[in-house]
Amino acid sequence: MTLQPDTPIVAASASDEPSYQDLLAALERERTWRLDLQDKLEKKVLSLRQANGSLVALARQVDRMVRERTEDLARERAAAHAENAAKTQFLATMSHEIRTPLNGILGMASVLAETSLAEDQIQILDVLRDSGRLLLNIVDDVLDLTKIEEGKLELERLPTDIAALMETVCRQFEPRITAKGLSFTKLCGGGLSLKGAWVHIDPTRFQQVLTNLLSNAIKFTEHGAIALSAHLKAETEESLILTVSVRDTGIGLTAQQLGRLFQPYMQADASVHRNHGGTGLGLAIARQICQRMGGDLTCSSAAGAGSEFTATFRVTRSDPVVEKTDLGEADGHAILSARRWRILVAEDNRTNRMVLHHMLKGFDLDVTWVEQGEEAVAACDRLPLDLVLMDVNMPVLDGVSATARIREQEAASGRLAVPIIAVSANALEHQVRSYLERGMTDHVAKPIRKQRLLQVMAQALSVLPDVR
Ligand SMILES: Nc1ncnc2c1ncn2[C@@H]1O[C@H](COP(=O)(O)OP(=O)(O)OP(=O)(O)O)[C@@H](O)[C@H]1O
Ligand SMILES: [Mg+2]
Repeated sequence: MTLQPDTPIVAASASDEPSYQDLLAALERERTWRLDLQDKLEKKVLSLRQANGSLVALARQVDRMVRERTEDLARERAAAHAENAAKTQFLATMSHEIRTPLNGILGMASVLAETSLAEDQIQILDVLRDSGRLLLNIVDDVLDLTKIEEGKLELERLPTDIAALMETVCRQFEPRITAKGLSFTKLCGGGLSLKGAWVHIDPTRFQQVLTNLLSNAIKFTEHGAIALSAHLKAETEESLILTVSVRDTGIGLTAQQLGRLFQPYMQADASVHRNHGGTGLGLAIARQICQRMGGDLTCSSAAGAGSEFTATFRVTRSDPVVEKTDLGEADGHAILSARRWRILVAEDNRTNRMVLHHMLKGFDLDVTWVEQGEEAVAACDRLPLDLVLMDVNMPVLDGVSATARIREQEAASGRLAVPIIAVSANALEHQVRSYLERGMTDHVAKPIRKQRLLQVMAQALSVLPDVR
């Protein structure tokens, strides 16, 4: 666009004096030119406004799309999270539900094993028990993994004689190692002496890690040797690092398999499951346990050249604990047979009642059965009793609240306190401690081991005054 009028308004020389007409024409041209320019400017402004308007609209649209997409993503993430939480919850519930009947199967199988059976019946029963235990292990592993995923894996810190605990685990595995023709070496040296060393650790979880490493080493080694080594090293004044290594001369792992080794449900290939079973959860759980204890689990291996797994745990020193000397089996039986003891059993689950019935039926006991906490409170008020076996999770009134009520009644009436033994799958240290604080006398864990049940009952009955 030109900004100059086409013809100058003033003439080029003085001799060429412009006429009035010329001036008018020039002014008119200039006016037209200005109007034209104004028109063009207005159009330009208009088109700029329009362009700006569509840019603003576009920006708004982009903004809306981003917002919608972000909301979609948040919704999708929340849905995936909820789905995952529901899956974890489902697995946890299922595992818990499966555990109860499974405890029934295992409890009954152990009762059956004590009856007189023919040779082939014993073999059948052994298969039943082994399969039941295997299933229980799988269910427990799934439960552990769900606890880990929900951040609910609880660890205890109990004074533990670490060398003695390792020795107990090794003793369980030695027959299998020998049966496979493998040699087994144990080296507990280097660093501080492990022998007689007491540390604070979660003994059950430590045992779980060691058990999985040893059972893997045996599974995946056909020839040669398995070596277990362990040592303690002081890290600071307070804390120590416990290192446990399991080395084998087995099939080893390829670099690719090593990369996926600690993922849940990972097994090197399909043949592993075919030949050895298992779920591929062991190492994933073991690593989480080590990490939660301030350590780690690592592996170095090569295909065909064996593997070495190294687990570390951060622990603290503890004073040795003198074990309570438990009643011997014979003494326990003598106490339970000494009288027709009056026992109250509060248990809502029929299978658990059956298991208890069969475990107690060898003794001449006067047993009253109730199925909920309220009934237990009423029975304690009504009946003279020597002992109560109390389930903890019961509908309406749970076992712990029932115990608190019973203790209140006893205090109000001046009655002697009856021993109340909690029988519950909740067996973590802090759970047991809280039961004792609320007035329970002792605790027997589910799945119930008959030997432990009888021993705890005898212990409680042995301290009763002669006449009640
Ligand atoms: N010592 C080993 N030598 C060779 N491969 C091993 C060894 N330990 C573990 N693996 C490989 O890692 C996989 C995962 O081990 P993990 O202990 O998690 O599961 P699993 O033993 O198969 O089943 P489970 O859940 O019963 O422990 C195994 O299936 C196997 O392929
Ligand atoms: Mg394993």
